Amino acid sequence: MNKPRHFISLLDLTSDEIRALIQRAMVLKNTRNPDFQPLKGQVLAMIFEKSSTRTRISFETGMTNFGGSAIFLSPRDTQLGRGEPIKDSAMVISSMVDAIMLRTNDHATVIEFAEHSSVPVINGLTDLLHPCQLLADMQTYFEHRGDIQGKTVSWIGDGNNMCHSYINAAIQLDFNLQIACPESYLPDTEMIKSAGSRVQVFKSPLDAAKDSDLIVTDVWASMGQEQEQQKRELAFKDYQITQEIMDNAHADALFMHCLPAHRGEEVAADVIDGAQSVIYDEAENRLHAQKALLELLMCA
Ligand code: CP
Ligand code: NVA
Repeated sequence: MNKPRHFISLLDLTSDEIRALIQRAMVLKNTRNPDFQPLKGQVLAMIFEKSSTRTRISFETGMTNFGGSAIFLSPRDTQLGRGEPIKDSAMVISSMVDAIMLRTNDHATVIEFAEHSSVPVINGLTDLLHPCQLLADMQTYFEHRGDIQGKTVSWIGDGNNMCHSYINAAIQLDFNLQIACPESYLPDTEMIKSAGSRVQVFKSPLDAAKDSDLIVTDVWASMGQEQEQQKRELAFKDYQITQEIMDNAHADALFMHCLPAHRGEEVAADVIDGAQSVIYDEAENRLHAQKALLELLMCA
């Protein structure tokens, strides 16, 4: 069996491929042609261990736009959810469909699934990474401001799956990433190291925002951490993105958040609903960037 091409991490594509994918996503967004159906008859299985609005709707719509279809599978719908081995599930499901998207609690599940899948596997979010979101975020930056190479991005908040994917994006697209997280919530040390001098860690959110072109944050308690909500609210109380933080960045800095967001927690309402925020473009671009990804993986 030929090994299929997977998208588990941004590092699975080359820098040139990511740039080409972003350009393609912009073309797809601006030239909606119902007769263009490169995935006619093809099927994407979508396995979700956690909730989703954007990921589910964008992949399902993308497949339909391209003439294919998508099957939504929650843990209640599959034997995987009842403990069928990952290998067996991957062998069987991949024998029937053309690509598989997974959103899992544990990153190791996606890795093991991909090892045994005969078709491309796409990471739709794990506890470690959220690479599809980064394709949309980068498309959004390119649309508003042009290439991100050499620019400065600030990640302020939890050193979580989104932060890890921002580190990978900094490596691939060659931008500086200024991170500020509470001491116990820093991103993975090895990942920080892998980015070399591109990633800098600051103690203060104001310092991390200095000279920035893009300020990004995410929820303080990710899916699966709901029981830590109160503890995290205390730990992160000085990390809210306020207008004061935005004012420490460049005057034309953008604000992004992958959503869902909690106004008054990780971001002040006047920032997320303000003039510098591009959250709704960012969310819409999930559709266009993932269509470019599906084309790359499934039409090769
Ligand atoms: N940003 C994101 O992945 O949203 P969903 O959880 O709604 O898919
Ligand atoms: N960090 C968040 C992202 C949600 C899209 C989570 O994992 O829940």
